Amino acid sequence: MFENLPTKVKIVDVAPRDGLQNESQSIDLDTKLELIHMLEDSGLSVIEVGAFVSPKWVPQMADTAEILKQLEYKANVNYPVLVPNMKGLELAIEHGVKEIAIFGAASESFSQKNINCSIAESLERFAPVCELAGQENIKIRGYVSCVLGCPYEGEIAPKQVSMVAEKMYNLGCYEISLGDTIGTGTPIKTQNMLNAVVDVVPLDKLAVHFHDTYGQALANILVALQMGIAVIDSSVAGLGGCPYAKGASGNVATEDVVYMLDGMGIDTGINLKALCSAGQFISGKLERANGSKVAFTTKI
Ligand code: HMG
Ligand code: MG
Repeated sequence: MFENLPTKVKIVDVAPRDGLQNESQSIDLDTKLELIHMLEDSGLSVIEVGAFVSPKWVPQMADTAEILKQLEYKANVNYPVLVPNMKGLELAIEHGVKEIAIFGAASESFSQKNINCSIAESLERFAPVCELAGQENIKIRGYVSCVLGCPYEGEIAPKQVSMVAEKMYNLGCYEISLGDTIGTGTPIKTQNMLNAVVDVVPLDKLAVHFHDTYGQALANILVALQMGIAVIDSSVAGLGGCPYAKGASGNVATEDVVYMLDGMGIDTGINLKALCSAGQFISGKLERANGSKVAFTTKI
């Protein structure tokens, strides 16, 4: 049953971006920097630190340039930022970013609400972004949102997901992250969607990104692991949400994913206690209950 499990998994912690983009309270720069440093100290090798998006659309990401200026970079850590268009890429280049993430959707309505254009227009917009990023030796990650449901359209066909994933992969993305933006996916649905995508994008180029709105994320991650997918997005303390996907809760908590992988003997390179400290730190700053179940039981 578990014969395809990877022996090593890369975790992409998206808390400083996905986790904080939806917060209504303002979060000071020092708190964000401290969170990133604590995540680094836990052993994470990829931390999504911000987004060069319109500050009118997502005010919480307006300090991304400042974060990049003040970060103490570690050699073995990647710090991707979201980029929706050329303006975002120019800012990324100006601030020495080595990895960007472009973000599209499998749902037309979500694409319109989130980035103000159709899926086809978004792909046209991404093409010159990817070309220039390639010339600048900037790595490109690609998100496809709403792969297991859309807040405006409901069900999304696996074929629609694979069509967008293939196009984004062909634009030059080294990894495609499949986002269950509103967390409605269940295991069999996840398997059907992944089966459609692996027909067009190599398995070792895929990541999964589950929000945990209905408590299904770990079960869905297990399905992805059994298929051999070895990259998982998650957010410390289960922070997260998208301003254009109302009602969606946070990403699956990184602590809970690491606990599960530790228990399965799968290497992540992450120290669970140090990770829990980061989750407690940011939950305290936000005056919010920690969204990780493991955080309550792991002595720090
Ligand atoms: P638009 O209004 O069509 O863009 O928005 P525009 O080109 O007409 O520009 C409007 C204004 O924004 C202009 O400023 C531009 O200069 C500025 P003004 O002249 O009005 O003062 N602008 C920018 N400023 C900074 N950086 C930029 C930039 N681009 C334009 N890059 C746009 C189109 C894409 C910009 C907008 O819709 C946008 O910023 N959307 C981002 C939405 C977002 O960040 N959503 C959350 C991330 S996606 C997500 O959470 C899902 C994910 O986690 C996976 C999953 O869970 O599924 C990734
Ligand atoms: Mg997300």
